Amino acid sequence: MTERIYITDVAPRDGLQNQQLPVSTESKLALIGLLEAAGLRSVEATSFVSPKAVPQMADAGELVPAVAARWPRLRTSVLVPNLKGLERAHSAGAREIAVVLSATETMNARNINMGLAQATEVSEQTLAAAHALGLRTRAYVAVAFDCPFEGETPLPEVLRLAARMHAAGAGEVVIADTIGSASPGQVKERFAALREVVPIDRLAVHLHDTRGMGAANAWAALEAGVRRFDASVGGIGGCPFAPGAAGNLATEDLVLLAERSGFATGVSLQGVLDAIDFAQTLLQRPLGGRSIAWLRREQARRQAQAAEPAAA
Ligand code: HMG
Ligand code: MG
Repeated sequence: MTERIYITDVAPRDGLQNQQLPVSTESKLALIGLLEAAGLRSVEATSFVSPKAVPQMADAGELVPAVAARWPRLRTSVLVPNLKGLERAHSAGAREIAVVLSATETMNARNINMGLAQATEVSEQTLAAAHALGLRTRAYVAVAFDCPFEGETPLPEVLRLAARMHAAGAGEVVIADTIGSASPGQVKERFAALREVVPIDRLAVHLHDTRGMGAANAWAALEAGVRRFDASVGGIGGCPFAPGAAGNLATEDLVLLAERSGFATGVSLQGVLDAIDFAQTLLQRPLGGRSIAWLRREQARRQAQAAEPAAA
């Protein structure tokens, strides 16, 4: 039987959080609708963070109930940095939250204005409070390979924090290559160690594609046993507080890689192209992962074939 991988499309949150052009709530909903129509069963819709820090996510309170009303079966996670974020997310009707803990002092300070010890405690408290409310949870361990401020992140630190997030009950511990600096060898090494401290089916990987190694890193993670991936249609994404962070691993690259290697994703590449078309109009620039030129040629070929009169 074909093995399945599970993709959370983070374009509505990671993809949009750093965009200069304002994106309306209705446009965000349209993007989420296209992701759902493409067969994606899990999205990260938004974040409940300070609107001063990330103005683009200021409409989280309106977005979440609208998503739940339109696509009640879509798994919809939201990022929350603290208990206040959880409170806001819960009142908006969110059913799944993700906390964000970075594996270095400086990255936590820049991202959420906390030191590492405080960020760890706040993440644990937020997970516990979310569980008490009956919510599903994820916990990011960000800068799990390199930190833009402190250089290579020591593996024992990543293992310690991943184990703490697992012990705190995180449904998924999401190992993040925030600035897209990881290599397949590192991914292989780190996941071999991580699966010793967190069961492999509770681990997910969140890759950025800064150096063109997103797909190679995804393959290394697959080989290491990971089956849960974050990706973003068109490869849009990047943390505003991590200098050098480029777009996420593109959903289309991941789907192509996985399906061509015998894994089922449930995602239609044509559906993903439709979502990219829409996102391009929204952001007024060309989008797409490493495979986009080939996917577009294939799309044009199929369209030309469909337009040909049937042979007599
Ligand atoms: P702070 O200024 O230290 O917070 O910010 P504070 O507790 O001192 O409160 C200051 C004000 O913010 C108060 O309001 C609070 O009520 C309010 P005031 O009294 O001034 O009117 N506040 C909030 N408002 C809305 N939602 C909240 C919230 N919390 C406090 N949750 C804070 C701390 C965490 C809020 C801030 O630093 C922040 O919002 N940071 C944004 C972080 C962010 O969104 N980063 C990008 C996402 S992470 C990422 O992209 C990485 C990832 O993709 C994985 C990877 O690739 O590595 C996940
Ligand atoms: Mg990210």
